[in-house]
Amino acid sequence: MKKILFAAIMFWQLNAFAQSTASITITGNTGQIISRHIYGQFAEHLGRGIYDGFWVDKNLPVAKQDRIRLDVVNALKKIKIPNLRWPGGCFADEYHWRDGIGPRAQRPKMVNTSWGGVTEDNSFGTHEFLALCKLLDTEPYIAGNVGSGTVEEMSKWIEYLNSNSSSTVAQMRKQNGHPEPYKVSFWGVGNESWGCGGEMTPEYYANEFKRYATFAKNYPNAPLKKIASGANASDYNWTEVCMKNIPNWMMWGLSLHYYTLPTGDWSKKGSATKFSEQEYFNTMVNCLKMEELVNKHAAIMDKYDPGKKVALVVDEWGIWTDTEPGTNPGFLYQQNSLRDALIAATTLNIFNNHCDRIKMAELAQTVNVLQALILTEKTKMLLTPTYHIFDMYKVHQDAKYLAIKLNSPDYEVGGKSIPAVNVSASQDAAGKVHISLVNLDAGKSVNISTQLKDIHWAAVSGQILTSPDITDINTFNAPAKVQLKNFTGAKKEGDDLVVTIPAKSVITLELK
Ligand code: AHR
Repeated sequence: MKKILFAAIMFWQLNAFAQSTASITITGNTGQIISRHIYGQFAEHLGRGIYDGFWVDKNLPVAKQDRIRLDVVNALKKIKIPNLRWPGGCFADEYHWRDGIGPRAQRPKMVNTSWGGVTEDNSFGTHEFLALCKLLDTEPYIAGNVGSGTVEEMSKWIEYLNSNSSSTVAQMRKQNGHPEPYKVSFWGVGNESWGCGGEMTPEYYANEFKRYATFAKNYPNAPLKKIASGANASDYNWTEVCMKNIPNWMMWGLSLHYYTLPTGDWSKKGSATKFSEQEYFNTMVNCLKMEELVNKHAAIMDKYDPGKKVALVVDEWGIWTDTEPGTNPGFLYQQNSLRDALIAATTLNIFNNHCDRIKMAELAQTVNVLQALILTEKTKMLLTPTYHIFDMYKVHQDAKYLAIKLNSPDYEVGGKSIPAVNVSASQDAAGKVHISLVNLDAGKSVNISTQLKDIHWAAVSGQILTSPDITDINTFNAPAKVQLKNFTGAKKEGDDLVVTIPAKSVITLELK
């Protein structure tokens, strides 16, 4: 027994100090920009995302504007969220905008049949959403109702928002307290039209898109960026048909939805907080599938749009686990661990590296739902490990993309392997270079040597996100267990950058 224990301790110690090596070459400016809109967020009328997340009871003793919670707003402002998608998701295709304007006491109530069958009192509607966007200093991205709404309804919503005319609808906006047009530009034409948005075929949807988009008008100084409802994960035929049947000029973007499920099984997704290294590894395999999806969807788009005018918009992504025990299963409330932070960082590296085609993306779903940035409980609020990744990565927003060649060691578990390291890099307007590195290996640090061609730099600093256990989370009692720290493990050796990245960690380095 003693021998076994000794062997186990030795193995653990050796593994803790185990190291492998990677090499990176950063080849310089590609002429491409990493759009800030890749760092977008999503907030649906779902569970405690809007109600009890952003929009709270008027008697809750926290700082508020109207009923918008300001500690949440201030935390999101710090990470510069560039856009916010609303009102869904599946809810978008049962939402009727006229129910959410005018005096709140008179707004009709409805059943939210998508999420938990709760009563939606419509107290958070168009004006409240746009007031939230203003507070956040973020661009609204509204998903219009194609599934159960009419062309006229969508067309009038846009007129209500963006027209400065004396039309009845535009006047109604003025009477409801907003004389100036809102100038909303990002416009989703339906959501998941292959599923909860109407169970359509791609051929049928492409026709519907053209009909709805034709009457989604541009008002003076308010051109719309219309985004077509895109594929579910690897449904490449959806992308093929939409690209073939919808003229490029009609759509600014085509969306893609992909969620990382720990088990890959929708009926038993896996726990957010209790998982083995094998389950962690399987989750990362599923996360890395995003790269294949983006490559294959982008290749189809290239056939019909070689000039890359139509954006690939990954407007729902993130880890989707089982809900927290004891919570309403329809509310999709899940905790957020270091594993989720590694997923966020890896996915953002994929998006940065595909910034020629991906111009926009939204993590699902900001507060208290799925892979949230923020969790709240009455007056308390905490920042999740995923929040810290968006904080760390904000330096890439609108920066020049730098091309990278990476030679990564493998991370092996149960006879399968994935690349341990992933990376993306950019150069900001002031000339500073930012390199974001992820080490997925749960046990081994990686020694990385980086050559930077044509980039002159003298000093390096950095930040790191890691924690002793891959399952570590922030709780309302210990909200800072997983948090950003300064990283001093990178140095200049000759012209090269040398860094040892600890196991299960994310680093962003700044070179100047
Ligand atoms: O984000 C949760 C749900 O996932 C959205 O409502 C829907 O679009 C997707 O299936």
